[in-house]
Amino acid sequence: MKYYEEVGAYYDKDASDFEKRYWRNPALQRIRQAFREEVKREDFADALEVGIGPGFDLIHFARIFPHTEMDGIDVSEEMVKLATAKIPSLDSKNTQVAQGSVEDLETLFPNRSYDLIYVFFGALNTVEDLPVAMACLEAKLKPGGRMVLTFVNKWYVGGMIWECLKLKPHHAFKRLRKVWGGYSPTEFLASRCYAPAEIKKISTSLHLEYRKREGFSILYPAWYYHRLHQKIPNKILFILWQLDRKIARGPLGALGEYALYDLRKRP
Ligand SMILES: C[S@@+](CC[C@H](N)C(=O)[O-])C[C@H]1O[C@@H](n2cnc3c(N)ncnc32)[C@H](O)[C@@H]1O
Repeated sequence: MKYYEEVGAYYDKDASDFEKRYWRNPALQRIRQAFREEVKREDFADALEVGIGPGFDLIHFARIFPHTEMDGIDVSEEMVKLATAKIPSLDSKNTQVAQGSVEDLETLFPNRSYDLIYVFFGALNTVEDLPVAMACLEAKLKPGGRMVLTFVNKWYVGGMIWECLKLKPHHAFKRLRKVWGGYSPTEFLASRCYAPAEIKKISTSLHLEYRKREGFSILYPAWYYHRLHQKIPNKILFILWQLDRKIARGPLGALGEYALYDLRKRP
């Protein structure tokens, strides 16, 4: 099976209860809200989302910005079906989705270019070759356009310490391997985690202006530590979240579970 068929098959399976799991996870909701706020900081007339999943963000932005042209892609047929089913509920007719990966963009949406390209929650951790994928994205960006890209980060030090304390060192250092394997303990997803220095190097080699890197879940427990979240009082979780937001852009931000990058194509 080809690489993207494997990734698509993994997420086809994941799609069945993806939305249900998301709505039960307040940590994921909080992080997504922060990603959305970041996108909304600057105006855009047309946008592309890569890895739309069931369409949470594509539909959200299409609803609040009905005059914006919104395109979305995903390698998973089932995810595309879930997102497509939500499009008729929109007032605008400016939203379209297609099945495929970043490298297929010119075929899927020929002659289109965007003010904004965003990726939330992991689709760029499952590309065959990140420099090639980023070059494909850069090619679809208008001069002066912006990319808000999020990645599963390589150096999640809090998680490494926590897994060592739980006496699970094999879990602690999985992100440092060339092939990571994904979050699931039972299903393997050929994927890779990236350090901020790698993203910076690729971005600058493409003449993208590297404007900002922000870390998530540095002190605030990662979204997949459900049990830990349930044990910590909401007030403390909120304080940890606030602390994270304060240190997110500094050197400690490079050690978060997740990382957001704000890049601009030079005019
Ligand atoms: C963890 S899910 C996140 C979905 C959605 N962005 C969200 O925040 O809920 C990752 C999604 O990216 C898609 N994906 C993975 N690799 C991709 C690629 N190379 N190109 C396009 N979509 C991809 C998967 O099929 C999956 O739907």
